[in-house]
Amino acid sequence: MNLVQLGDAEQWPALGLGTWRFGEAATRHAGEVAAVRHALELGYRVLDTAEMYGEGGAERVVGEALAGAVREGVVKREQVLVVSKVYPHHASAAGVQAACERSLHRLGLEQIDLYLSHWRGSLPLEETLEGFTRLVAAGRIRHWGVSNFDLQDMHALRQLDGGGHCATNQVYYAASSRGVEFDLLPWMQNQRMPLMAYSPLDEGKLAHDTRLAALARVLGLSAAQLALAWVLRQPGVMAIPKAGSLQHLRDNLVAASTTLDAAACAAIDAIFPAPRRKQQLAMI
Ligand SMILES: NC(=O)c1ccc[n+]([C@@H]2O[C@H](COP(=O)([O-])OP(=O)(O)OC[C@H]3O[C@@H](n4cnc5c(N)ncnc54)[C@H](OP(=O)(O)O)[C@@H]3O)[C@@H](O)[C@H]2O)c1
Repeated sequence: MNLVQLGDAEQWPALGLGTWRFGEAATRHAGEVAAVRHALELGYRVLDTAEMYGEGGAERVVGEALAGAVREGVVKREQVLVVSKVYPHHASAAGVQAACERSLHRLGLEQIDLYLSHWRGSLPLEETLEGFTRLVAAGRIRHWGVSNFDLQDMHALRQLDGGGHCATNQVYYAASSRGVEFDLLPWMQNQRMPLMAYSPLDEGKLAHDTRLAALARVLGLSAAQLALAWVLRQPGVMAIPKAGSLQHLRDNLVAASTTLDAAACAAIDAIFPAPRRKQQLAMI
Protein backbone atom coordinates (compact mmCIF):
# COMPACT_ATOMS: atom_id res chain seq x y z
CA MET A 1 0.00 0.00 0.00
CA ASN A 2 1.19 3.54 -0.73
CA LEU A 3 2.30 5.68 2.16
CA VAL A 4 1.41 9.35 2.22
CA GLN A 5 3.59 12.05 3.70
CA LEU A 6 1.82 14.21 6.30
CA GLY A 7 3.72 17.27 7.42
CA ASP A 8 7.50 17.05 7.46
CA ALA A 9 8.06 13.92 9.47
CA GLU A 10 5.19 11.47 9.20
CA GLN A 11 3.99 8.86 6.76
CA TRP A 12 0.60 7.18 6.94
CA PRO A 13 -1.08 4.42 4.93
CA ALA A 14 -3.04 5.76 1.97
CA LEU A 15 -6.17 3.86 3.05
CA GLY A 16 -8.18 4.99 6.04
CA LEU A 17 -11.67 4.37 7.38
CA GLY A 18 -14.56 6.83 7.10
CA THR A 19 -17.28 6.97 9.76
CA TRP A 20 -20.06 9.12 8.31
CA ARG A 21 -23.48 7.62 9.25
CA PHE A 22 -21.95 5.99 12.30
CA GLY A 23 -23.16 7.13 15.69
CA GLU A 24 -26.69 7.94 14.57
CA ALA A 25 -28.62 5.17 16.34
CA ALA A 26 -28.08 3.56 19.75
CA THR A 27 -29.21 0.22 18.33
CA ARG A 28 -26.29 0.18 15.89
CA HIS A 29 -23.65 1.43 18.35
CA ALA A 30 -22.14 -1.92 19.34
CA GLY A 31 -21.90 -3.08 15.71
CA GLU A 32 -20.21 0.15 14.70
CA VAL A 33 -17.69 -0.05 17.54
CA ALA A 34 -17.00 -3.64 16.43
CA ALA A 35 -16.46 -2.48 12.82
CA VAL A 36 -13.86 0.13 13.86
CA ARG A 37 -12.24 -2.43 16.14
CA HIS A 38 -12.08 -4.95 13.25
CA ALA A 39 -10.53 -2.27 11.09
CA LEU A 40 -7.79 -1.69 13.66
CA GLU A 41 -7.20 -5.43 13.99
CA LEU A 42 -6.90 -5.72 10.20
CA GLY A 43 -4.28 -2.96 10.17
CA TYR A 44 -6.22 0.25 9.42
CA ARG A 45 -4.33 3.14 10.97
CA VAL A 46 -6.28 6.23 9.82
CA LEU A 47 -9.75 6.92 11.26
CA ASP A 48 -11.80 9.80 9.88
CA THR A 49 -14.68 11.31 11.83
CA ALA A 50 -16.32 14.68 12.55
CA GLU A 51 -18.36 16.43 15.20
CA MET A 52 -21.15 16.50 12.59
CA TYR A 53 -21.40 12.71 12.19
CA GLY A 54 -24.27 11.59 14.38
CA GLU A 55 -23.82 14.94 16.20
CA GLY A 56 -20.82 13.52 18.04
CA GLY A 57 -22.02 9.92 17.98
CA ALA A 58 -19.40 8.81 15.45
CA GLU A 59 -16.62 10.34 17.59
CA ARG A 60 -17.92 8.26 20.51
CA VAL A 61 -17.83 5.11 18.36
CA VAL A 62 -14.26 5.84 17.24
CA GLY A 63 -13.17 6.68 20.79
CA GLU A 64 -14.67 3.54 22.28
CA ALA A 65 -13.19 1.26 19.61
CA LEU A 66 -9.77 2.86 19.85
CA ALA A 67 -9.72 2.76 23.65
CA GLY A 68 -10.57 -0.95 23.60
CA ALA A 69 -7.94 -1.69 20.97
CA VAL A 70 -5.26 0.22 22.89
CA ARG A 71 -6.25 -1.37 26.19
CA GLU A 72 -6.04 -4.86 24.70
CA GLY A 73 -2.74 -4.26 22.93
CA VAL A 74 -4.05 -4.27 19.34
CA VAL A 75 -2.46 -0.89 18.64
CA LYS A 76 -0.60 1.83 20.44
CA ARG A 77 -2.35 5.18 20.48
CA GLU A 78 0.47 6.83 18.52
CA GLN A 79 0.10 4.28 15.70
CA VAL A 80 -3.31 5.66 14.76
CA LEU A 81 -4.07 8.93 12.98
CA VAL A 82 -7.36 10.22 14.37
CA VAL A 83 -8.93 12.83 12.11
CA SER A 84 -11.90 14.95 13.16
CA LYS A 85 -13.59 18.07 11.84
CA VAL A 86 -15.12 21.24 13.19
CA TYR A 87 -18.42 22.63 11.89
CA PRO A 88 -17.94 25.91 10.00
CA HIS A 89 -20.32 27.69 12.38
CA HIS A 90 -18.03 26.71 15.27
CA ALA A 91 -14.89 27.85 13.47
CA SER A 92 -14.28 31.20 15.15
CA ALA A 93 -11.02 31.49 17.14
CA ALA A 94 -12.75 30.69 20.44
CA GLY A 95 -15.40 28.43 18.91
CA VAL A 96 -12.89 26.12 17.27
CA GLN A 97 -11.12 25.60 20.57
CA ALA A 98 -14.36 24.88 22.43
CA ALA A 99 -15.52 22.48 19.69
CA CYS A 100 -12.18 20.68 19.80
CA GLU A 101 -12.46 20.19 23.55
CA ARG A 102 -15.92 18.66 23.08
CA SER A 103 -14.58 16.35 20.35
CA LEU A 104 -11.64 15.33 22.54
CA HIS A 105 -14.06 14.53 25.34
CA ARG A 106 -16.25 12.36 23.09
CA LEU A 107 -13.20 10.64 21.60
CA GLY A 108 -11.73 10.11 25.07
CA LEU A 109 -8.40 11.43 23.81
CA GLU A 110 -5.85 13.99 24.94
CA GLN A 111 -5.03 14.98 21.39
CA ILE A 112 -6.55 14.87 17.89
CA ASP A 113 -3.92 14.08 15.27
CA LEU A 114 -5.48 15.99 12.40
CA TYR A 115 -8.27 18.52 12.86
CA LEU A 116 -10.06 19.91 9.82
CA SER A 117 -12.37 22.77 9.06
CA HIS A 118 -15.28 20.78 7.58
CA TRP A 119 -16.11 23.30 4.86
CA ARG A 120 -15.61 26.99 4.35
CA GLY A 121 -18.36 28.89 6.10
CA SER A 122 -18.98 32.57 6.70
CA LEU A 123 -16.55 33.06 9.60
CA PRO A 124 -13.21 34.63 8.59
CA LEU A 125 -10.47 32.12 7.80
CA GLU A 126 -8.08 34.15 10.00
CA GLU A 127 -10.23 33.27 13.01
CA THR A 128 -10.20 29.56 12.26
CA LEU A 129 -6.46 29.65 11.74
CA GLU A 130 -5.96 31.42 15.04
CA GLY A 131 -8.01 28.74 16.81
CA PHE A 132 -6.05 25.94 15.13
CA THR A 133 -2.73 27.61 15.95
CA ARG A 134 -3.67 27.90 19.61
CA LEU A 135 -4.78 24.26 19.70
CA VAL A 136 -1.44 23.13 18.23
CA ALA A 137 0.44 25.28 20.77
CA ALA A 138 -1.61 23.74 23.60
CA GLY A 139 -0.93 20.22 22.30
CA ARG A 140 -4.65 19.52 21.76
CA ILE A 141 -4.14 18.84 18.02
CA ARG A 142 -1.00 17.84 16.14
CA HIS A 143 -1.93 18.99 12.63
CA TRP A 144 -4.73 21.02 11.12
CA GLY A 145 -6.20 21.15 7.67
CA VAL A 146 -9.31 21.90 5.66
CA SER A 147 -12.04 20.10 3.77
CA ASN A 148 -14.11 21.04 0.72
CA PHE A 149 -11.76 23.89 -0.16
CA ASP A 150 -11.49 24.63 -3.87
CA LEU A 151 -8.31 26.06 -5.35
CA GLN A 152 -9.28 29.70 -4.77
CA ASP A 153 -9.96 28.88 -1.10
CA MET A 154 -6.54 27.24 -0.84
CA HIS A 155 -4.97 30.38 -2.32
CA ALA A 156 -6.84 32.55 0.21
CA LEU A 157 -5.61 30.31 3.03
CA ARG A 158 -2.04 30.38 1.76
CA GLN A 159 -1.98 34.17 1.94
CA LEU A 160 -2.63 34.16 5.67
CA ASP A 161 0.07 34.06 8.32
CA GLY A 162 0.58 30.40 9.15
CA GLY A 163 -1.59 29.26 6.22
CA GLY A 164 1.36 27.26 4.90
CA HIS A 165 0.96 24.84 7.80
CA CYS A 166 -2.25 23.39 6.35
CA ALA A 167 -1.62 19.63 6.34
CA THR A 168 -4.34 18.43 3.96
CA ASN A 169 -7.53 19.22 2.08
CA GLN A 170 -10.20 16.52 2.26
CA VAL A 171 -12.40 16.58 -0.83
CA TYR A 172 -14.88 14.49 -2.78
CA TYR A 173 -12.90 12.42 -5.25
CA ALA A 174 -14.10 9.30 -7.01
CA ALA A 175 -13.97 7.94 -10.56
CA SER A 176 -17.42 9.46 -11.08
CA SER A 177 -16.32 12.85 -9.66
CA ARG A 178 -12.94 13.79 -11.14
CA GLY A 179 -13.11 17.60 -11.20
CA VAL A 180 -10.21 17.98 -8.74
CA GLU A 181 -7.84 16.43 -11.29
CA PHE A 182 -8.02 19.55 -13.43
CA ASP A 183 -6.44 22.00 -11.00
CA LEU A 184 -6.75 21.29 -7.27
CA LEU A 185 -5.00 17.91 -7.16
CA PRO A 186 -1.99 18.98 -9.31
CA TRP A 187 -1.64 22.12 -7.16
CA MET A 188 -1.71 20.08 -3.96
CA GLN A 189 0.78 17.55 -5.34
CA ASN A 190 3.03 20.44 -6.28
CA GLN A 191 2.76 21.76 -2.71
CA ARG A 192 3.42 18.24 -1.37
CA MET A 193 0.11 18.40 0.47
CA PRO A 194 -1.79 15.11 0.62
CA LEU A 195 -5.34 15.02 -0.72
CA MET A 196 -7.78 12.98 1.36
CA ALA A 197 -10.39 11.54 -1.00
CA TYR A 198 -13.79 11.25 0.62
CA SER A 199 -16.66 9.18 -0.78
CA PRO A 200 -14.18 7.33 -3.06
CA LEU A 201 -16.94 4.79 -3.82
CA ASP A 202 -19.42 7.60 -4.48
CA GLU A 203 -21.29 6.67 -1.30
CA GLY A 204 -21.32 3.03 -2.40
CA LYS A 205 -22.87 3.69 -5.84
CA LEU A 206 -19.72 2.64 -7.71
CA ALA A 207 -19.98 -0.84 -6.16
CA HIS A 208 -23.09 -1.31 -8.32
CA ASP A 209 -21.76 0.20 -11.55
CA THR A 210 -22.12 -2.54 -14.17
CA ARG A 211 -19.44 -1.08 -16.48
CA LEU A 212 -16.90 -1.01 -13.65
CA ALA A 213 -17.99 -4.48 -12.56
CA ALA A 214 -17.32 -5.91 -16.03
CA LEU A 215 -13.86 -4.37 -16.09
CA ALA A 216 -13.14 -5.43 -12.51
CA ARG A 217 -14.14 -9.05 -13.14
CA VAL A 218 -11.33 -9.45 -15.67
CA LEU A 219 -8.87 -8.21 -13.03
CA GLY A 220 -10.25 -10.47 -10.31
CA LEU A 221 -11.64 -7.49 -8.38
CA SER A 222 -15.06 -6.21 -7.41
CA ALA A 223 -16.32 -2.94 -8.88
CA ALA A 224 -15.76 -1.23 -5.50
CA GLN A 225 -12.21 -2.54 -5.29
CA LEU A 226 -11.44 -1.29 -8.77
CA ALA A 227 -12.89 2.15 -7.97
CA LEU A 228 -10.80 2.36 -4.81
CA ALA A 229 -7.56 1.11 -6.39
CA TRP A 230 -8.10 3.73 -9.09
CA VAL A 231 -8.39 6.62 -6.58
CA LEU A 232 -5.28 5.37 -4.80
CA ARG A 233 -3.22 5.04 -8.01
CA GLN A 234 -1.57 8.40 -7.52
CA PRO A 235 1.08 9.57 -5.04
CA GLY A 236 -0.08 11.95 -2.36
CA VAL A 237 -3.68 10.67 -2.34
CA MET A 238 -5.32 9.06 0.67
CA ALA A 239 -8.83 7.57 0.57
CA ILE A 240 -11.21 7.05 3.47
CA PRO A 241 -14.03 4.74 2.34
CA LYS A 242 -16.60 4.00 5.00
CA ALA A 243 -17.09 0.28 5.51
CA GLY A 244 -19.28 -1.25 8.16
CA SER A 245 -18.87 -4.89 7.19
CA LEU A 246 -15.85 -7.09 7.78
CA GLN A 247 -15.91 -8.22 4.15
CA HIS A 248 -15.79 -4.65 2.86
CA LEU A 249 -13.00 -3.74 5.29
CA ARG A 250 -10.96 -6.66 3.96
CA ASP A 251 -11.81 -6.00 0.32
CA ASN A 252 -10.73 -2.40 0.62
CA LEU A 253 -7.36 -3.38 2.07
CA VAL A 254 -6.79 -5.66 -0.92
CA ALA A 255 -7.79 -2.84 -3.26
CA ALA A 256 -5.33 -0.46 -1.59
CA SER A 257 -2.52 -2.89 -2.37
CA THR A 258 -3.57 -3.37 -6.00
CA THR A 259 -1.67 -1.58 -8.74
CA LEU A 260 -3.62 -0.86 -11.91
CA ASP A 261 -1.85 -0.94 -15.24
CA ALA A 262 -2.18 1.70 -17.97
CA ALA A 263 -4.76 -0.37 -19.85
CA ALA A 264 -7.06 -0.58 -16.81
CA CYS A 265 -6.71 3.17 -16.19
CA ALA A 266 -7.47 3.89 -19.86
CA ALA A 267 -10.56 1.70 -19.65
CA ILE A 268 -11.75 3.69 -16.63
CA ASP A 269 -11.04 6.95 -18.49
CA ALA A 270 -13.35 5.71 -21.23
CA ILE A 271 -16.18 5.22 -18.71
CA PHE A 272 -15.46 8.30 -16.58
CA PRO A 273 -13.54 10.85 -18.67
CA ALA A 274 -10.98 13.12 -17.02
CA PRO A 275 -12.06 16.77 -16.71
CA ARG A 276 -11.10 18.99 -19.66
CA ARG A 277 -11.95 22.29 -18.01
CA LYS A 278 -12.33 23.79 -14.55
CA GLN A 279 -15.26 22.36 -12.62
CA GLN A 280 -16.59 23.82 -9.43
CA LEU A 281 -15.56 21.63 -6.51
CA ALA A 282 -18.17 18.92 -5.97
CA MET A 283 -19.42 18.37 -2.43
CA ILE A 284 -21.54 15.72 -0.82
N1 LIG B 1 -15.30 16.08 4.46
C1 LIG B 1 -16.51 15.88 4.02
O1 LIG B 1 -17.28 16.82 3.73
C2 LIG B 1 -16.98 14.46 3.82
C3 LIG B 1 -18.14 14.20 3.09
C4 LIG B 1 -18.53 12.88 2.91
C5 LIG B 1 -17.77 11.86 3.47
N2 LIG B 1 -16.65 12.15 4.21
C6 LIG B 1 -15.84 11.07 4.82
O2 LIG B 1 -15.52 10.12 3.84
C7 LIG B 1 -15.99 8.84 4.24
C8 LIG B 1 -16.37 7.99 3.06
O3 LIG B 1 -17.39 8.59 2.30
P1 LIG B 1 -18.89 8.01 2.27
O4 LIG B 1 -19.17 7.33 3.52
O5 LIG B 1 -19.74 9.17 1.86
O6 LIG B 1 -18.94 7.04 1.03
P2 LIG B 1 -18.02 5.87 0.42
O7 LIG B 1 -16.91 5.55 1.30
O8 LIG B 1 -17.76 6.28 -0.99
O9 LIG B 1 -19.08 4.68 0.39
C9 LIG B 1 -19.52 4.05 1.56
C10 LIG B 1 -20.48 2.94 1.16
O10 LIG B 1 -19.77 1.99 0.38
C11 LIG B 1 -19.95 0.69 0.93
N3 LIG B 1 -18.69 -0.06 0.75
C12 LIG B 1 -17.51 0.13 1.38
N4 LIG B 1 -16.59 -0.74 0.93
C13 LIG B 1 -17.22 -1.50 0.00
C14 LIG B 1 -16.82 -2.60 -0.80
N5 LIG B 1 -15.55 -3.05 -0.76
N6 LIG B 1 -17.72 -3.16 -1.63
C15 LIG B 1 -18.99 -2.70 -1.70
N7 LIG B 1 -19.44 -1.66 -0.95
C16 LIG B 1 -18.55 -1.07 -0.11
C17 LIG B 1 -20.27 0.90 2.39
O11 LIG B 1 -21.06 -0.18 2.83
P3 LIG B 1 -20.93 -0.83 4.30
O12 LIG B 1 -20.93 0.31 5.27
O13 LIG B 1 -22.13 -1.72 4.37
O14 LIG B 1 -19.65 -1.62 4.36
C18 LIG B 1 -21.05 2.21 2.34
O15 LIG B 1 -22.41 1.96 2.04
C19 LIG B 1 -17.14 9.18 5.17
O16 LIG B 1 -17.51 8.07 5.96
C20 LIG B 1 -16.56 10.32 5.95
O17 LIG B 1 -15.65 9.86 6.93
C21 LIG B 1 -16.24 13.42 4.37
